Amino acid sequence: MRLKNISTNNMNIKLSNEIDKQRIPEHIAIIMDGNGRWATKKGLPRSFGHNKGVSVLKEIIKVSKNLGCKVLTVYAFSTENWSRPSEEVDFLLNLFEKVLKKEIDEIHKELIKIKFIGDLSPFPKTLKSILNSSEALTQNNKNFTLNVCVNYGGRQEIVKVAKEIALKSFSGEIKPSEVDEELFNSELLTQGIKDPELLIRTSGEKRISNFLLWQLAYSEIYISEVFWPDFDEFEFLKAIIDYQSRNRRFGGIE
Ligand code: FPP
Repeated sequence: MRLKNISTNNMNIKLSNEIDKQRIPEHIAIIMDGNGRWATKKGLPRSFGHNKGVSVLKEIIKVSKNLGCKVLTVYAFSTENWSRPSEEVDFLLNLFEKVLKKEIDEIHKELIKIKFIGDLSPFPKTLKSILNSSEALTQNNKNFTLNVCVNYGGRQEIVKVAKEIALKSFSGEIKPSEVDEELFNSELLTQGIKDPELLIRTSGEKRISNFLLWQLAYSEIYISEVFWPDFDEFEFLKAIIDYQSRNRRFGGIE
């Protein structure tokens, strides 16, 4: 085990040396996929995959913070996840509560600001209260931001913005001719947060799955073949190196 750790550390150091520290993405979005399949493949209940997924998230927060990345946005529960068996939905909601209760002091000590993006209204009162108090406690932290998307859907977010703009236009607060990208951005749930330069999705699936549809317009996409519970510093560094090899043209030419 010790030998394995030493060789893993050596591989991570080798990869770290390949990274251009001046070009670390400021904002990375992650679709943490494959928890269930990871567990099922090992003959374990799906919940084991979610538990392991939490420790991977903790590791990736630490690594990205150390690299100089400023914002991580993770997809923890989509609007579509309500269709899972109720035991799994309950497990996930309890897990969020348990993890926050256990980790919030450490998150605050590390000067991490935590923000929950999505419609929190259908969540149980106790969960809503811990989500709100965690945001309030960490709101002024400046070292790093962790955005956790819960009950989030990109289409729902866009419809919400369209409704707000329609209402403002109807009431005369704005003119239809004033509707532009800047105004649209200011009504998004991610208002004030720079768009992600990089999207990482694990488990080999090549879909966006209703995640940050507006914000990912020009993000580079990196698909990792490993399931989220097997994702680690090594796989994360590989994603950054791949990102740094891309030529970002934003629709223009060189
Ligand atoms: C996707 O795997 C993962 C999820 C739906 C849940 C992810 C949640 C965590 C890792 C917990 C994060 C906790 C906090 C407090 C931020 P899947 O279940 O869709 O896997 P599958 O595709 O193999 O079925």
